[in-house]
Amino acid sequence: MTARILDGKAIANNIREEIAVRVSAFRERFSTSPKLVAVLVGDDPASQVYVRNKEIACQKAGIQSDIHRLSGATTTEELLAVLDELNADPKVHGILVQLPLPDPIDTRLVLDRIDPRKDVDAFSPENVGLMLQGRPRFLPCTPHGVMQLLNRCKIAVQGKQVVVVGRSDIVGKPLVCLCMQKSGPGGPSNANATVTCCHSQTPDLGEITRRADILLVAIGKPNWINASMVKPGAVVIDIGINRIADRLVGDVDFDSVSQVASAITPVPGGVGPLTIAMLLENTLRAAEEQLSS
Ligand code: GUN
Repeated sequence: MTARILDGKAIANNIREEIAVRVSAFRERFSTSPKLVAVLVGDDPASQVYVRNKEIACQKAGIQSDIHRLSGATTTEELLAVLDELNADPKVHGILVQLPLPDPIDTRLVLDRIDPRKDVDAFSPENVGLMLQGRPRFLPCTPHGVMQLLNRCKIAVQGKQVVVVGRSDIVGKPLVCLCMQKSGPGGPSNANATVTCCHSQTPDLGEITRRADILLVAIGKPNWINASMVKPGAVVIDIGINRIADRLVGDVDFDSVSQVASAITPVPGGVGPLTIAMLLENTLRAAEEQLSS
């Protein structure tokens, strides 16, 4: 079997076009544009690229975007003061602090300081709680991107055995939550799965992953999942981005797994572009909520 390649880039482009149309309507209605501010601390090269890509995507969709750059020597208190200003600025609708933050900064304290109505990453306890209870304000961008990808590729989650590999707060845990809800971004067929979560301490990982109809991998280890760990015909979504020398590779060994899976996402060009599209969605929603209330 040779797997169908799920083209995340093309799907993200469609979503971005849809959002651009909604942003135009927003501007007509409110005579202003949605605005996102990304806070970037230090000079991590990967973070610089990610934030720049987010800025370009905003501009293309008609969303205003600023990058607030701070030196790597910034203290937690200084960063909290910046967030207080952005929280209080009615022209700023969405705020994101690019992670990882330099070591001495207290990441939890910083993320908790973002006004939940402006928390377009959906990392705050309030937004995580709302998602868990099935009444989300925003969904976290990467897990939301995965659900959109499955929905738009007409791959139903309902009734399937879904195995999530990884338990991070940003990807693994929210994916478990979204797949087991009664309804998802694409309705009931985009939810209602039976979900198993594996992680770095799971014994005999392959024995569990081989049960998956849909395998969602976010373990952060290059080429961790090989063909022997995948049931023939499974759908495999690779959420890993690992830099090896100058090349990006996923958490799934694409060459071998694409021989057994029925569908697979590439890296790059799979889930990554959807993450950015969902950030635009959240920024537009944040602006709509703030200007309508
Ligand atoms: N660093 C890696 N992924 C993310 C993300 O989704 N949001 C933020 N703010 N930082 C990240």
